[in-house]
Amino acid sequence: MSGPLIVLVGPMGVGKSTVGELLAERLGTTYRDTDADVVAAAGKAIAEIFFDEGEEHFRELERRAVRDAVDQHTGVLALGGGAVLDAKTRALLAGRPVAYLAMDVEEAVRRVGLNTARPLLAVNPRRQWRELMDARRHLYEEVARTTVATDERTPEEVAQAVLDAL
Ligand code: S3P
Repeated sequence: MSGPLIVLVGPMGVGKSTVGELLAERLGTTYRDTDADVVAAAGKAIAEIFFDEGEEHFRELERRAVRDAVDQHTGVLALGGGAVLDAKTRALLAGRPVAYLAMDVEEAVRRVGLNTARPLLAVNPRRQWRELMDARRHLYEEVARTTVATDERTPEEVAQAVLDAL
């Protein structure tokens, strides 16, 4: 099966883009990110898509971006943190070399906290993070071939762990 060498999933702020770029460099390939593809296709920021058209519409655009990327991209691919919520998007990942970058709730609150650029975390970040992780953890695990803990690891160490595991 051709397609991405590595697909990274995991919650926002876990370091998918940093680790993805490191991996692409290590493998001599390119990095692609479905958030950037959605922004390019929609011609506006993710927060604006959520605000103007709603999350469901964003998930449709995201599904299209994932479909195109798994068809066309042969480097390292990172998915938006909520892409796994969509069953059809999850199906697109079947048989792919997917790594789930995981972090615990306290680490997420420390790293991301209340970040207004990330529209899902508007109020009470700790509670929202707990709910978000509870709702998504099993979905990340469902699509992933391997889970890599990122707590107390540098991006270089995480990248190495992904390479070792896949
Ligand atoms: C989202 C994560 C974001 C982005 C959007 C929704 C989510 O991606 O797709 O804001 O639902 O968790 P990152 O994980 O790249 O921040």
